Amino acid sequence: MIKAIRGTRDLLPPDSALWNFVEKTVREVFAAYNFHEIRTPIFEATELFARSVGEETDIVSKEMFTWEDRGRAQSEKNQSLTLRPENTAGVVRAYIEHNLWERGLSKLYYIGPQFRRERPQKGRYRQFFQIGAEVIGPATSGSESPVRDAEVLEMLSTLLNRLGIKEWRLELNSVGCAADRACYNEALRRALDPVKDKMCADCQRRAVTNPLRVFDCKVPEDQPIIETLPRIGQFLDEPCCQHFAQVKEILRAVGVEFQENDRLVRGLDYYTRTAFEFTHGALGAQNAILGGGRYDGLSESLGGPAAPGIGFAIGEDRLVMSLGKSADEVFRKPDVYIAPLGEGMNNPSARLARELRGHNIIVELGDAVFKLKKSFEAATKAGAKYILIVGENEVKASAFALKNLATGEQKSVPRDQLAHAIQS
Ligand code: HAM
Repeated sequence: MIKAIRGTRDLLPPDSALWNFVEKTVREVFAAYNFHEIRTPIFEATELFARSVGEETDIVSKEMFTWEDRGRAQSEKNQSLTLRPENTAGVVRAYIEHNLWERGLSKLYYIGPQFRRERPQKGRYRQFFQIGAEVIGPATSGSESPVRDAEVLEMLSTLLNRLGIKEWRLELNSVGCAADRACYNEALRRALDPVKDKMCADCQRRAVTNPLRVFDCKVPEDQPIIETLPRIGQFLDEPCCQHFAQVKEILRAVGVEFQENDRLVRGLDYYTRTAFEFTHGALGAQNAILGGGRYDGLSESLGGPAAPGIGFAIGEDRLVMSLGKSADEVFRKPDVYIAPLGEGMNNPSARLARELRGHNIIVELGDAVFKLKKSFEAATKAGAKYILIVGENEVKASAFALKNLATGEQKSVPRDQLAHAIQS
């Protein structure tokens, strides 16, 4: 038997109903903040991720599904392609490619699969789904303003509350601008130099090439050393401090609770200033429901115009896990099962099914080859509320036997009153 690849999953009914419930709510909430959907390709040039997420990050150095795509003509060169491990890079590429800056501030959202070659475990998959959003535009459109950061965070708190997710925690930090980061990286390099030999191989390399990434280390023995390192907060320049202070001020004004976490630097290189994660206690080790932040220099590093931006991505798999809702609460079962009784009854049954579906009634249609007992079994198995019997006499009388499967109550209902009887 051929099985799904480890780290990938099938999503079956009734669980898919929970995902649809989440996505419907997401679309409603995002629409209220004037976000619009963007769909970008599932695979992109490898270089896009190397240049945005960063060569030294775990995502790019270890976790990408990358392949060499053969040029079709002899003159065509091979191209390295990658299944997208995240979607911010793709959105910013699209922003540049389609001159979206001409539209002022773009508020875009996406829902779709992402791919990372991680060690599979609960809440961590090789194909997972993200619901993300990006606010990006020229500085003149207000894209750099702390108002945008706070709006995105407030929108997320509204979404989680609307979904009924309680006990989320917002952790917030500022990772400064490029200049702050250069000073900070230098300070980290100096602090790491005398101790790096005692750290894991990854950290020894990071200490030289990209010291900030030391904070991504999960090796328990390295943690006491990491605890002693200087924190970015001490290196923020005045504009960055002010930006961070204003974000926090608006959040307090709108009543969104947060905790400052000066160790939060996020595992992707493009971040500047605001960085955040929402966590949820019930998720265990993989407790981040979502993460995001500002990326003011990303467009330029991909060859585009200056376009400050901020965004986030929710791990949809984890979001669904933290819902605390069972799929049965949102799964819609048939309102009625139509049981054609006897030869020639398939046609009038199909007509009736079509009519009732036109009233937005969920109809499961049986088959005249089924005996009545089998139709009852099928109706019960499907979880239908009613069974409607369509026999020769019923068709002649234009009135049908409608039985409530839970109460056993049965009555004959004229055709033109059927929809009303089923819906009430
Ligand atoms: P990220 O922190 O790498 O950020 O991923 C965001 C969220 O995706 C995580 O918090 C987690 O819920 C989920 N996630 C990540 N990896 C996995 C996995 N292997 N299995 C299940 N869920 C996973 C980004 O991707 C950035 N692009 C977010 C962003 C958008 N920043 C600015 N704009």
